[in-house]
Amino acid sequence: MRVTVQQLRDWKREGQRFAVLTAYDYSTAKLLDQAGIPVLLVGDSMGQVMLGYENTLPVTLEDTIRHTAAVVRGSKNALVVADMPFMTYQPSQEDALRNAGRVLKESGAQAIKLEGGAWMAPTVRRLVDAGVPVMAHIGLTPQSVHQMGYKVQGKTVQAAAKLLTDAAALDQAGAFSLVLEGVPAALARRITASVGMPTIGIGAGPHCDAQVQVIHDILGLFTDFQPKHARRYAELGAAIQDAAGRYAADVVSGAFPSDKESFTMDERILRELDSGEGVRAPEVAPEREPEFGGYPR
Ligand code: KIV
Repeated sequence: MRVTVQQLRDWKREGQRFAVLTAYDYSTAKLLDQAGIPVLLVGDSMGQVMLGYENTLPVTLEDTIRHTAAVVRGSKNALVVADMPFMTYQPSQEDALRNAGRVLKESGAQAIKLEGGAWMAPTVRRLVDAGVPVMAHIGLTPQSVHQMGYKVQGKTVQAAAKLLTDAAALDQAGAFSLVLEGVPAALARRITASVGMPTIGIGAGPHCDAQVQVIHDILGLFTDFQPKHARRYAELGAAIQDAAGRYAADVVSGAFPSDKESFTMDERILRELDSGEGVRAPEVAPEREPEFGGYPR
């Protein structure tokens, strides 16, 4: 049974914090699911960490559906949330409904995420009424990079008050959770105390109900920059470079592959081949083909 959106609200009531991580592919989703991560977000951060774009804006609905479907196939227990790409929900409520519907139907995700404050609340209400669970996202919203840059939000009285109003509007509209990105810790604490839905912080301090991180950041897989809010829990980038270097050196030196990684054949078949009789039907039964041990086809 997968984690449900109702469970997340229960956890907030019970004071039980939880972890959210991004995932974009089958194998990683499987590992994170087996590690007990209850919520997997197929973030549009895939634009940078998976696809090499400068920002999240070029990500398409097809990218999201393909990557989300892979994460759904890789996970059994986690709630899978698909991040709606830029301009797939902003133009109109009809666009939001049609595209969110496509994402849920074609990827198998259980919920979607979208960015935007009070002005987005009527769209959230419409989606929720249509049966689409919505994770909202305010503060630093990367899809507005050309308007706000990548700056901490809510540092003036007006900006802080606006974020509190945005959170209340999204809560009332029925969002099941709220990502707070790039928000001062003291403000995130107030927002968290003011809403019924769990808040999920990223660069928003320790008082949120949950935390989300981009998996590449905590594993040391993305080296273009290191966000201040991320903590490295592993150095997989260095481990991959080390493994790739040792593999390449073994290929160059001839140390790879060894007999252990190769396949044998019957010597008699080779002798027949050398004597030119190989074109005739074999007189001896060929050795049973050893298991290839690769991907089943
Ligand atoms: O795209 C993403 O990964 C996100 C999280 C950082 C919240 O929106």
